[in-house]
Amino acid sequence: MPPSDWAATIRRHVTSQTRLTVMTGAGISAESGIPTFRGPEGYWTVGSRSYHPQEMATVAMFRRRPDDVWQWYLHRATVCHQAAPNAGHTAIVALEALFDNRFTLITQNVDGLHLRAGNSARRTYQIHGNVFQVRCAAGCTDDLRPLPEALIGRAKTAPLTAVERELLTCPNCGDRLRPHVLWFDETYNEHHFRFQSSLDAATATDLLVIVGTSGATNLPNQVAWAVFQNGGTIIDINPTPNPFSELARQSPGGQFIQQPSGRFLPELIHEIQKIMADRTRRCP
Ligand code: APR
Repeated sequence: MPPSDWAATIRRHVTSQTRLTVMTGAGISAESGIPTFRGPEGYWTVGSRSYHPQEMATVAMFRRRPDDVWQWYLHRATVCHQAAPNAGHTAIVALEALFDNRFTLITQNVDGLHLRAGNSARRTYQIHGNVFQVRCAAGCTDDLRPLPEALIGRAKTAPLTAVERELLTCPNCGDRLRPHVLWFDETYNEHHFRFQSSLDAATATDLLVIVGTSGATNLPNQVAWAVFQNGGTIIDINPTPNPFSELARQSPGGQFIQQPSGRFLPELIHEIQKIMADRTRRCP
């Protein structure tokens, strides 16, 4: 597709009133060195030492083998800690600055890189949680606590020590702490995962930019379909065709951009900045 096609879409569909939602998946962090889930080196493909990977991300496994689950999440937290935001993340920070209170970021990523890049916590809905946060596994309170720093950077397969187990104990009730992530045998909710807020944002969205997701989970599909059904425009950025590519093509002026996000998003932001600057010049 010639670049002018998407630039024309942006020129036609971005105004000073446009409400923009960006929805991201693991692909945006791939260029920061964090494995995706379903790619050849993905977390769900390679797995843990002894279990099928999708078994690890369940309450059922946490009840049976909490130390193994923690070992795996502490390894993932270490990988995320060592990674840095890339050009794609930075471009999304610039989008928030441009669209301000007409901007929402819905991310499936638990790596915290959008917040580290500079997106605001208020407008960033981490719909699958964040590996750097923990909460009481027994639910004695809903409070989120930071993952103790002493637990980051440990060897991938080292068994948990007594001291580490103590750090992973709820100070309120003495039960275990658990990673603040949405597991496969759990459902979305508003309080922890901004379920209703995401649907509300979708209903109000004029332009949805989907970045680096295979579309395998429920809420992102609901968001994309809500935007589509309300007549919004969808741009899907992904090196690989996925369930959102066709939806994007069928939306008014929508585009499937078959490129890595770190390459395309800076171009997109550049184009939007140019349009906004032109309009400001015309209407001082
Ligand atoms: N730029 C953009 N997209 C990319 C890039 C890149 N540089 N590299 C890979 N991708 C795309 C892949 O083509 C794929 O479509 O990122 C997508 C990653 O897909 P998944 O591994 O399935 O990750 P994701 O869609 O985020 O998974 C959703 O599934 O199990 C749950 O909780 C997990 O949040 C995760 C959710």
